[in-house]
Amino acid sequence: MKIDAQSFDNLARTVFAPVYPVIARRIVETTGITQGTCLDIGCGGGYLGAALARLTDLFVHFFDQSEEMLKLAKRTITKNGWEGRADILQGDVSCIGLPDGSVDLVVSRGSVFFWEDCAKAFQEIYRILAPGGMAYIGGGFGSATLREQITQEMERRDGGSEKFRNRVANNLSSVSRSRFEAALKQAGITTYFVVDNNNEGLWLIIMK
Ligand SMILES: C[S@@+](CC[C@H](N)C(=O)[O-])C[C@H]1O[C@@H](n2cnc3c(N)ncnc32)[C@H](O)[C@@H]1O
Repeated sequence: MKIDAQSFDNLARTVFAPVYPVIARRIVETTGITQGTCLDIGCGGGYLGAALARLTDLFVHFFDQSEEMLKLAKRTITKNGWEGRADILQGDVSCIGLPDGSVDLVVSRGSVFFWEDCAKAFQEIYRILAPGGMAYIGGGFGSATLREQITQEMERRDGGSEKFRNRVANNLSSVSRSRFEAALKQAGITTYFVVDNNNEGLWLIIMK
């Protein structure tokens, strides 16, 4: 499914905006990684990577397959004056143009649900992770309250349709979790744990 960059960005900068700092804080608390290199996969306009940059000393690569999304991520870099501590990279998650062991923290929110071959993607992420590095991949809205507020706002905007609510429920379901865990197994990755709860959403935390 192709995402319309402008419409998604309008939502990301308004309705979804409160979720990024909450998720970034949780990532830092869980991983303890605040230095080195971060890769935000499927970064969109770059708001999760930006929230992490504000909390840490990480250099952030904003990575996406969409040129349009990367233009928006570039705008985020420029707006914050981060030319020296962030850049943009284009590509598919199954083929990331970075050397083996070069990334300390991989993050990815709301993108894994679109990946064609998750096993291949997880293998590629594991390849670029540095020893001691971690990946935090999944989807969520920071808290159950934020999730419900955002869902209600999306319903209002969609004229009462439950499309968004159903899509989120499907993305964060036990079926998704099983699919991701099967892909991790296929990729030969055993050093991971899953965060799966009403507050945080569904996240795979991979350790190398
Ligand atoms: C729902 S948006 C999420 C954007 C951002 N992470 C956020 O939370 O605001 C999903 C993003 O993943 C990107 N994407 C989807 N499949 C991808 C793939 N195979 N490789 C790289 N990026 C991908 C899309 O272009 C899009 O920018």
